Amino acid sequence: MTNDKGYENLQEKLNAAGSTTYPKGGPASATSSDKGEGLKREAVDALKKSVVSSEKSTGEDAEQPSGPVGLDIGTSHIVVAQNKKNHVQAVQNLNAFFTVPYAKFAKDILDQNNVMYYERDRQYYIIGHSAQNFANMFNVNTRRPMQEGFLSPKEEEGLSVIEALVGSLIQKPKNFGEILSFSVHGDPFEGAGSVVYHESVLKGYLGSLGYTPIAINEGMATVLTELSDDDFTGIGVSMGGGMCNVCLSYLSFPVITFSIQKAGDYIDIMAGKAVGEPASRVKVMKEEGLDLSQNPKDRVSTALHIFYDELIMNLLESLQRVMISTEKIPKIATPIPIVLSGGTAMPKGCKEKFEKMLRNFNLPVEISDVRLADDLLNTTAKGALIMAMTEAV
Ligand SMILES: Nc1ncnc2c1ncn2[C@@H]1O[C@H](COP(=O)(O)OP(=O)(O)OP(=O)(O)O)[C@@H](O)[C@H]1O
Ligand SMILES: [Mg+2]
Repeated sequence: MTNDKGYENLQEKLNAAGSTTYPKGGPASATSSDKGEGLKREAVDALKKSVVSSEKSTGEDAEQPSGPVGLDIGTSHIVVAQNKKNHVQAVQNLNAFFTVPYAKFAKDILDQNNVMYYERDRQYYIIGHSAQNFANMFNVNTRRPMQEGFLSPKEEEGLSVIEALVGSLIQKPKNFGEILSFSVHGDPFEGAGSVVYHESVLKGYLGSLGYTPIAINEGMATVLTELSDDDFTGIGVSMGGGMCNVCLSYLSFPVITFSIQKAGDYIDIMAGKAVGEPASRVKVMKEEGLDLSQNPKDRVSTALHIFYDELIMNLLESLQRVMISTEKIPKIATPIPIVLSGGTAMPKGCKEKFEKMLRNFNLPVEISDVRLADDLLNTTAKGALIMAMTEAV
């Protein structure tokens, strides 16, 4: 369950930064008076910038990046992050689609209503937030190019949908070979899903656009965004739609990475089954008002509490088992933090629930505290951007 390929370079660069561009104490402790210019410095500055995020709106052209790019291709959302003068810009679209049969009048309606779509095999593929609006109108679920963190084996056209969605967010780079870092999931602790296939296919596509694509583990991206003040030492946990991704990083080196193929979608499906409601309805109720710090008030919230408990239990059990079975755990003198990111960590009380359940586990490293990432839905994209900026030196 460890995966260190591709990171030697990052570690080297961040570590080298400690003795060259950055002062002792790590990259995050650099100040404007320190020596050293260029992209390393920009990456440090970008870490401190807050994220300004927006949904991709139809009718607006995709940007042509003129610098490194961070790309989070998640089961639920696709997010592109770019470094701007005073902020990190994140633009997102829903990783979903919906098809309608080809017809001249259908095309007119789609065009008139500013719907995001493309045509293929005599069907219109409506994508992103437009797909969600359509599905709501027809009272059906959207289709998803990804399932449990990977390209869905059930959707033959999944990759073309992802290509269209990425194309709605960014064009080819201004400078050929621009670094683009994209998120990939860790090997699943149990269950199926090929990281190698998923990563290779996306790399091929991003390379064909003129980028130099570099994969970053999603848990590591969380560490990069959130743990600069801790010398990039700690455990990043991204709780998304299809997966929870975990990375134990020591001085920016990802010592352990793994994932479990359960997250927000699993909670929606299981809670829905338990109370006889469609998962899509449960999802709306969950996002609109679930409060894990209060006792549940009805059947749906009772089911949601139960499956949140199960998910966190599963996550902690897997973490304990992976940590105990690996020989790679570094001897860390001081307790390390755990930082949670991703949409599934959003409900009030999620962090406290995690903290409480963590007390029943005996991990081989001591945990100082549990934190929530600053901007839960954009943590991965920002971390990927930092990686891209570091690599672009
Ligand atoms: N306010 C909220 N309360 C609870 N859950 C939420 C909230 N907002 C979003 N979510 C859930 O977060 C999940 C999506 O999170 P995120 O965008 O981080 O996933 P992703 O990165 O696309 O997926 P993954 O990393 O698993 O491939 C969905 O299950 C969604 O229902
Ligand atoms: Mg994610």
